[in-house]
Amino acid sequence: MDSAIQGKKWTLQYPELGTSPVPVEATISPGYFERERRNVFKCSWLNIATSSEIPEPGDYIVRELEILGTSVLLVRGKDGRVRGFHNVCKHRGNILAKACSGKANSFVCGFHGWAFDTTGTLVHVPDEDQFHDLNKSDFGLTPIEAAEWNGFVFASLKPRETLGEALGEWGEQFAHYPFGEMRPVGHYTTSVRVNWKVFMVAFLECYHVPRLHRRIVPDAATGEQNPLCHLLSVRLQGRHRSCSVYGNPNHVPSPAEGLAFKYGPTVIQGEKAKSAKPNGVNPENNANWAFDMNGIFPNLILHVGNGFFYKLVFWPQAVDRTRWDVELYMSPASNAGERISQEFSKILTRDLYREDLSTVESIQTGLASGGLSHFPLSDQELLVRHTFRVIDDAVRFG
Ligand code: FES
Repeated sequence: MDSAIQGKKWTLQYPELGTSPVPVEATISPGYFERERRNVFKCSWLNIATSSEIPEPGDYIVRELEILGTSVLLVRGKDGRVRGFHNVCKHRGNILAKACSGKANSFVCGFHGWAFDTTGTLVHVPDEDQFHDLNKSDFGLTPIEAAEWNGFVFASLKPRETLGEALGEWGEQFAHYPFGEMRPVGHYTTSVRVNWKVFMVAFLECYHVPRLHRRIVPDAATGEQNPLCHLLSVRLQGRHRSCSVYGNPNHVPSPAEGLAFKYGPTVIQGEKAKSAKPNGVNPENNANWAFDMNGIFPNLILHVGNGFFYKLVFWPQAVDRTRWDVELYMSPASNAGERISQEFSKILTRDLYREDLSTVESIQTGLASGGLSHFPLSDQELLVRHTFRVIDDAVRFG
């Protein structure tokens, strides 16, 4: 046995990942970023929205995908199906839908008034007789692939496989978690000067919790039995990855948290009825489980608990800039007490994420400084190692 991994249980479970330090190049090189654009983002399924954001026919959402140099429009048709298009008028290229989201029976270009219905068909051209042999059926919106899975809407410019194939074993595990029954209770978005992978992997390890989050959650994720917040279990599933995170059973809630948990689930303690574990989570039935961290290739993270989940999407804008969209989802509140409980979770999340944000730009500065060429990773950072490995495989081999 390699002496470097002796006693390192997650690395022992997945020895194929090795133990080598990760080259910094993947986080600072413009050339590497270009290859990510071509070999990762152009051909992958990307999470654009949740189904509950566009529940009714005519509901639509627009997303600017800077790394792909395009704006995409996803709209639910009268038949209930979500279709995706380049958000570009087929007359002379004007961006079609300008709002981030809305409801429409048709999309009318603001330049000359060409109109497209929710299937992307060109249905009206003002002064049509002045065109030369214009066949409207040749000028529908350019489609992209779009598909729904268990409450999420994904799109891809050039998929190499179906969404189900792409989600694979991870998708099967979570196929029946009630994602679609929950609604957003908090939403934060920001653009940060950091590489998207550097940013993303900060949410795939707990090694930083005892130090960085010692003020906000001093004893929720650490305790006598697990003082350094070691992971409870780890699962690598093709290009996706998942782990279960410890919750201290002897955690002493603050007065505000105690009040919140009296009325509903919180992101620290989950549902009161812990026996009602939803489908998919904590598959090893670890005791003292808090939530699962899931990294879904390439840029989606879902932190999934009992009664809540977080959706974190990391959109590369440049090699050293990332737009971050994060949403906390919980079951709709049925009374004022539950609403108070949700507000507590929302504010706690804000405070935790501000602590996470306090490090990432300085990390990027450090990585780009020339002060290090590689970074070492511990057994507790196996999901970080896996993230860099699967992206690197895609960059190199397509
Ligand atoms: Fe859209 Fe002319 S560019 S109608």
